[in-house]
Amino acid sequence: MTAGRGVWITLEGGDGSGKTTQANLLAGWLTDAGHGVLRTREPGGSEVGELIRNIVLHHRGDIAPRAEALLYAADRAHHVATVVRPALDRGEVVLQDRYLDSSVAYQGAGRVLDGDEIRELSLWATEGALPDLTVLLDLDPEAARERLDSDDKPFDRLEAEKTEFHSRVRDAYLRLADAEPERFLVLDAAASADEIAAAIRVRVESLLG
Ligand code: TYD
Repeated sequence: MTAGRGVWITLEGGDGSGKTTQANLLAGWLTDAGHGVLRTREPGGSEVGELIRNIVLHHRGDIAPRAEALLYAADRAHHVATVVRPALDRGEVVLQDRYLDSSVAYQGAGRVLDGDEIRELSLWATEGALPDLTVLLDLDPEAARERLDSDDKPFDRLEAEKTEFHSRVRDAYLRLADAEPERFLVLDAAASADEIAAAIRVRVESLLG
């Protein structure tokens, strides 16, 4: 991001691609190296955000696609203003599960809204804030489904969508990464957690200078 002295890293990928595992590994490594680390996520990541998260993930019944997109954007606006920017201004490394690329992929390609409009909406919401690095854990939706099925947790609204929805989400992510190769690091989520963690560390080391 342009303002602030910290480093902002987001993790993206389909449900079940291992983002949380990688965020935890990277947070541990950065903390051991003496960096101040803020772990956060969208949706959620602030008190208001947790309320919005509850609606978008657990509301029973339909939410109109544009309303869903606006709820994610509202969460993002508040999160960036009250959590992310202050942490970057303090010089911390912000390690975040999901950001605007999730909206372009899920609300844009998944719900078939206009991806460019969704991106513009998020950029308006955050006054143009973009991460220094976005790690995309790319996984075939069938493999992701197997991972989620072996988990005990019930599916949330988005996870319950069909494989076709998740294929569109994956394709959208890959297009976003192609369009901004300097921001994205794309890794095969089928590799071992240790291999993925090592590849992320190489890139993060070069960012931290
Ligand atoms: P979460 O429980 O954080 O899942 P995961 O472990 O897969 O990250 O749920 C987040 C869900 O919200 C996920 O299915 C993707 C969806 N989502 C959107 O549809 N749009 C967005 O802008 C964001 C941030 C998330």
